[in-house]
Amino acid sequence: MSHHALEFQQLRKTFRTLRGPVEALRGLDLQVRAGEIFGYIGVNGAGKSTSIKVLLGLIRATSGTARVFGLAAGSLAARKKIGYLPEVANYHEFMSAAELLRVHARLAGVPRALQAERCQDALEVVGLSHRQHSRISEYSKGMKQRVGIAQALVSDPPLLILDELTSGLDPFAQRDLRDILLRLKERKITVFFSSHHMSEVEAICDRAAIIHDGTLRACGTISELTENRERVEMDWDGEGVERPLAEIPSSGLLSLEHSQSSEFVQKALGHGYRLRRLAIQRTTLEDVFHNLTRGGAACSPS
Ligand SMILES: Nc1ncnc2c1ncn2[C@@H]1O[C@H](COP(=O)(O)OP(=O)(O)O)[C@@H](O)[C@H]1O
Ligand SMILES: [Mg+2]
Repeated sequence: MSHHALEFQQLRKTFRTLRGPVEALRGLDLQVRAGEIFGYIGVNGAGKSTSIKVLLGLIRATSGTARVFGLAAGSLAARKKIGYLPEVANYHEFMSAAELLRVHARLAGVPRALQAERCQDALEVVGLSHRQHSRISEYSKGMKQRVGIAQALVSDPPLLILDELTSGLDPFAQRDLRDILLRLKERKITVFFSSHHMSEVEAICDRAAIIHDGTLRACGTISELTENRERVEMDWDGEGVERPLAEIPSSGLLSLEHSQSSEFVQKALGHGYRLRRLAIQRTTLEDVFHNLTRGGAACSPS
């Protein structure tokens, strides 16, 4: 039987704080398949990092379960499956990438005989081989992010968890990142990354989940998340129409949901309107995200 790379079932986490309890996760359900590049989207405070920390065993859930390839999250066996890039990663800037990776390979328990090869391999995947002996203090933000990915890769894990992978990166660095993730996918590594940059998630991942207020609001491929939400914009000429339709304003411009548009076009033509222009407005992940997170209705997971 094959397991999901990661899985949350009714995960709850309540932090006890001086201001009272904070319910960070309120019954989160999620399944990520092995081999997927999966985008984990939510506004600040949605619960992304909290759920990731539960997966890593850095904090304990209040109730519910979290599993990594079928193993209980937090167990040594589960932790060994994960390479992790934290949300805020601070490296010893005086070190070179090559030195830093050696330290991490040792910490991750990579056998001594394999360490050099693993480090070289990780640097190569993230495209830093040629700069591996420069100090990290000399690296750009994008390069530092890549060092972070290399660090997470050094133990050769089947699951990579990257928290806030893309924050603060310029479009070129984002593009590089996308190529790196695709290379990892070829190696059958499951990549789970959190982000609040919709356009990147849209470009990079196989599936995505939107979480809000500690629960799952939507999950699916980008087309599943955006389909049937397209809008059709129409520009009608109603000059001389005898029985005008109330739906068509005097300006003649109208925007309708895709599912309602074809019937409406028939009707308007029947009434003698002439269609000047018709354009399909593709719904972006950003639109869906805004609808689901601005207090909008929760939608059931697919
Ligand atoms: N250690 C903590 N103590 C108290 N509250 C916390 C702690 N960690 C996170 N929270 C709260 O839990 C909620 C979810 O936070 P987080 O998981 O960091 O969100 P995200 O990563 O999606 O931005 C927020 O309201 C945050 O303030
Ligand atoms: Mg976070």
